[in-house]
Amino acid sequence: MPEEKYNPRKPIIICKWVTDKKLARKLANFFVKNVSTPYISHGELITGRATALNSWNKNLFQIIFKELQTKIPKRQTKLTNHRIVVATEKDKIIALAVVHFLPKNNYGFIEDLIVDSSRRGRGIGSVLLAWIEEEARTSRIERIFLESGIHNKLAHHFFEGKKYINCSRIFFKVL
Ligand SMILES: CC(C)(COP(=O)(O)OP(=O)(O)OC[C@H]1O[C@@H](n2cnc3c(N)ncnc32)[C@H](O)[C@@H]1OP(=O)(O)O)[C@@H](O)C(=O)NCCC(=O)NCCS
Repeated sequence: MPEEKYNPRKPIIICKWVTDKKLARKLANFFVKNVSTPYISHGELITGRATALNSWNKNLFQIIFKELQTKIPKRQTKLTNHRIVVATEKDKIIALAVVHFLPKNNYGFIEDLIVDSSRRGRGIGSVLLAWIEEEARTSRIERIFLESGIHNKLAHHFFEGKKYINCSRIFFKVL
């Protein structure tokens, strides 16, 4: 049978949990290369990733690198809370997500979800999100929460399309 011709509109995507801390540098590079300021929400402000709604911290790479080093577990077990997942195509990282599962409380967070900026709108984010949801179900997670920057309209459209419900607005004031 002839090999199926590679179709960039239908990428063959493999999702897997990351358990190699040595990947933190590569993943931090991917993160920094593929986010823009609409991604900034209150999480970015409180963790110091961003200094304002329209401004990343100039040390973003170092901040993300440290975060990922802490969050990549040595081993993946059902009790692992912080988890990093990558989606790859032909061994190339095409998307990344940071999730936080709290199975004892039956809920989880998607802290980050980022698709390679040159490959958006081709179904990669949908595959990765569906994979995370399936893993969450097997960890007895009943609700997944996430936050998204107020100006990140494309992401809002994406999540609403996946039946996520907007349940709050977050306010802050600079003193
Ligand atoms: C949001 C994101 C994860 C979606 O992944 P994706 O692979 O682009 O999305 P898919 O191809 O699976 O789904 C396409 C849908 O997402 C929407 N979408 C969201 N952001 C998009 C983008 N930057 N480019 C193209 N489509 C985008 C499309 O409008 C489309 O909706 P439709 O099916 O009603 O037409 C991805 O665009 C991304 O990484 N954005 C930047 C980081 C970000 O904002 N992450 C979310 C943080 S809360």
